[in-house]
Amino acid sequence: MSYYRKSVYRSPTGSSKPEVLGSEILQRLLNHDVNLGGSFIEATGSQGSAKTSVLLFFAEYNMNVYPKEKVFWSNPYKAPMQFLRLQEDQWHIFVKEGSNVTFHDRAKRLRQVHPANLSYFKSYDDLYDNAIPGKCNAVFFGDRKEWIDFMGYIVSVGEWTAVFFDELSEIASGYSSGDDWRKIGEFSLTLKELRKCLVTCVVNSQSSSDTDHRVRTKLMAKIFLPGAKSDGKSRVHQQAIDNLVVDRQNGNESWIEMDGRFGLVVWSDVYPPSKVSWEARCDGLQR
Ligand SMILES: Nc1ncnc2c1ncn2[C@@H]1O[C@H](COP(=O)(O)OP(=O)(O)O)[C@@H](O)[C@H]1O
Ligand SMILES: [Mg+2]
Repeated sequence: MSYYRKSVYRSPTGSSKPEVLGSEILQRLLNHDVNLGGSFIEATGSQGSAKTSVLLFFAEYNMNVYPKEKVFWSNPYKAPMQFLRLQEDQWHIFVKEGSNVTFHDRAKRLRQVHPANLSYFKSYDDLYDNAIPGKCNAVFFGDRKEWIDFMGYIVSVGEWTAVFFDELSEIASGYSSGDDWRKIGEFSLTLKELRKCLVTCVVNSQSSSDTDHRVRTKLMAKIFLPGAKSDGKSRVHQQAIDNLVVDRQNGNESWIEMDGRFGLVVWSDVYPPSKVSWEARCDGLQR
């Protein structure tokens, strides 16, 4: 297996047992093996704990090691577009035709900008077929909830695909009712299929309790970054999380838990904020 940039792991030689276990779990999640299938992973931690950076790391690994596969990114509206922290030739924006999605520069009083790497799509077929393999395809439907339907489409394709949800709780809030609640139920059933449908989905939220419990119970692995709350069901104790090292230079530590086992991972790839701070907006949309 080849690594680009710095290695994520400390060398197994001389590593402590938690580090060896941590890198074993991470390898299982990063590398594609049809016998093991896809996975559903959540990173939690306080603001600035590098949750989004963990998503960027998984995305970049997928793009580099599996350049023929498709990678999709779901970004919140009215918040910095985090995929811009990748290199400019590593991302492409897709906007649903007729959706009124516009892009704005947060450093220039939200003046409208027109990103160059941008295409429009009419249908899910159109979007999936035109998504660029080996790049981070950031998709804007105009309403973030539409990702629930698009995830249903992705699992039906049957190809290795990676999907990233920055701030998942916006889509699958733990405090929904009525139609939203039913729709999130549908989403949780889709997420249950990820393993056999070869889809890897990595999500983050500040606190796992912000996310609907029907969605959370489908998680296969959890990453606890500094400031995370242990969720009660986890084998990782709060005290262990509180002792995680925060290191802006060499990377934050985290606990990674899967199938009742857990280990330590240091995220040594540091993703600084992008130079441009652009956000997406959609007229008349609250979220
Ligand atoms: N692997 C890392 N370890 C430590 N700090 C990091 C890492 N990656 C990024 N950072 C720094 O931490 C800050 C917050 O990162 P970010 O991923 O946006 O956190 P969050 O999504 O949890 O708010 C960024 O400004 C970045 O420079
Ligand atoms: Mg973030």
